[in-house]
Amino acid sequence: MATEWVVRDEKEENVFWPSSEMKKRAWVSDEKIYDDAKKDQIKFWEKLAEDGLVWFKKWDKAYVWEKPYFKWFVNGELNACYNCVDRHVKTWRRNKAAIIWVPEPIDEDVKVLTYYDLYREVNRFANALKKLGVKKGDRVVIYLPMIPQVQIAMLACARIGAIHSVVFSAFSAESLKQRIEDSEAKVLITADGYYRRGKIIDLKRNADSAVQGTTIKNVIVVRRIGNDINMVKGRDYFWDEIVKECDGYCEAEKMKSQDILFILYTSGTTGKPKGIIHDTGGYLTQAHWTAKWDFDLHDDDVFWCTADIGWVTGHTYACYGPLSNGATLLVYEGAPDYPDIGRWWKIIEEFGVTTFYTAPTAIRMFIRYGEDLFKRYDLSSLRILGTVGEPIDTDAWLWYFKNIGGCRCPIIDTWWQTETGGTLINSLPGIGPFKPTFAGKSFPGTVHTVVDEDGNELGPGEVGYLVQKPPFAPGLLHGVWKNEKKYIEEYWEKFNFRYYYTSDGAYYDEDGNFRLTGRVDDVMKVAGHRLSSAEVEDAIDEHPNVRESAVVPRKDEIKGEVPIAFVVLKHGEGSDSLKKEIIDFVVKGIGPTAKPAEVYFVSDLPKTRSGKIMRRILRGIVNNKKELGNLTTLMNPECIDEIKVVVGYKPLE
Ligand code: WTA
Repeated sequence: MATEWVVRDEKEENVFWPSSEMKKRAWVSDEKIYDDAKKDQIKFWEKLAEDGLVWFKKWDKAYVWEKPYFKWFVNGELNACYNCVDRHVKTWRRNKAAIIWVPEPIDEDVKVLTYYDLYREVNRFANALKKLGVKKGDRVVIYLPMIPQVQIAMLACARIGAIHSVVFSAFSAESLKQRIEDSEAKVLITADGYYRRGKIIDLKRNADSAVQGTTIKNVIVVRRIGNDINMVKGRDYFWDEIVKECDGYCEAEKMKSQDILFILYTSGTTGKPKGIIHDTGGYLTQAHWTAKWDFDLHDDDVFWCTADIGWVTGHTYACYGPLSNGATLLVYEGAPDYPDIGRWWKIIEEFGVTTFYTAPTAIRMFIRYGEDLFKRYDLSSLRILGTVGEPIDTDAWLWYFKNIGGCRCPIIDTWWQTETGGTLINSLPGIGPFKPTFAGKSFPGTVHTVVDEDGNELGPGEVGYLVQKPPFAPGLLHGVWKNEKKYIEEYWEKFNFRYYYTSDGAYYDEDGNFRLTGRVDDVMKVAGHRLSSAEVEDAIDEHPNVRESAVVPRKDEIKGEVPIAFVVLKHGEGSDSLKKEIIDFVVKGIGPTAKPAEVYFVSDLPKTRSGKIMRRILRGIVNNKKELGNLTTLMNPECIDEIKVVVGYKPLE
């Protein structure tokens, strides 16, 4: 297939545009859409909501902003599960593959669920939840690996109006417990275990320890690997046994557009993760149209988003977005390099994946293996590539473009956040430009800008805070679970409710394409995973011999950033065994993804006169920054010399 999907810009090296062929096929190919949408953003989204989704009842008012909350499609009624499943079953898509599930073990069979299969499974499971007393508005925690039951469970919750809260399966028992407690969930859905790089992960054991003393009344357990696990009588049920007794039809609940579809916990600036609230109508509208336009989804596409369901990317692009479009979704259970580094590419070849969405960290990992390896696989089915989660540098972009996309597929670099529900800033496949390190323009119907500390808008090339202007995007969060104060403080107060504040730095070029410059708060992106300094510090501080700690990100060639810990002990000296103990505390408190790459023992941490730890200075030191900023405001500037020695600080010119 020598089809040209992109063309190189004649004037600028490394800028690409869609070919006429791609423009012809793309849902959106006329740049005019941006200006048209701007004329009346509310009307624009109303049309999308109406065209893209099935509503049981039309809304009375499209958009209301009552500080600090805004609402979309007020009093409109719909059901997210109905939109992802039922409506397709009524069409020719009934027997179309909804989910192609690829297990990690290579000797195990691939499973294909058609939309009709999905419909049956979801209905039965929705009835199982009802049987356990789950009602509209109740919270259900889902702690599952990447197996089809994860989408089934999410959709079943949506069907009966229960609020799901998915917890990443690599999070520890303590993380799970914290999230169960905050959401006061009734039911936990988990599995007997799963495979990761050939090893068995004992999920049920984590679940058992997490539910102790919480509001969880019942645990539903998927038999994934069939190992011997502890089942508590009257509390625990096997998924297959409970659905067997359930009816094959369950009426989809009529949900108000503003009703909560899910809570997803994410890291903020404090140690405690916050439960981001997403509603039904607004979220689904954005999920539907961003999936369709960003990835130019057509009926013959096979869409693979490699993100785990425990992150927002998994929610929107490995569940709601593609399924509401009636697309075929590929879901892979395991690690990218199992049993060897060719696994992902073999899957693309085998299933003719057309649309592939992953994180820059994965691409950077593959670069190490050279170019020859990738020539062994037929990747010609690919049409569109996407990235998400962190900035992608030019080298990784070009490598991805050349080796995976065969210089044929545009790279859609999507900027968004857990809070935004769906993508917001990226080029569209039929419009372009595809320009390394630039995400692109605001999705039609949304407006972003860059402002200074006082909220004044900046011009092209000037770095400042990325903000969103009203009317706020339909998919944007609708609060923080049980914490309005935090919702106001983190997103609205900084610019006095004029803008949604993203906590990202950015600038835009002369043509209005945004380039992200990274977080401006204490949130890191470690291999694409969102993590806060404070939560790692809290986990470290649990160690009985730790007086205090500070965690900052250090740049990393593959993971983007890695956490580096500075620890002050109560007594004695640091040692390798103590280092290991501290790392174990982090794994126990959060999970392996949060492991510090280095632990430095120091006798003091730089602090302001009011006692606040100056992480900024530590960040400068671990990254060998020449400029460490103003040290005169420190209470204890003498500690800096010791820290520099311990780290081996070599300022870069
Ligand atoms: C960062 C992930 C640069 C950003 C969907 C944001 C990005 C945070 C990009 C949200 C991108 C996400 N380019 N940076 N294309 N996409 N980010 O909540 O700092 O896990 O604020 O959501 O990731 O991370 P989260």
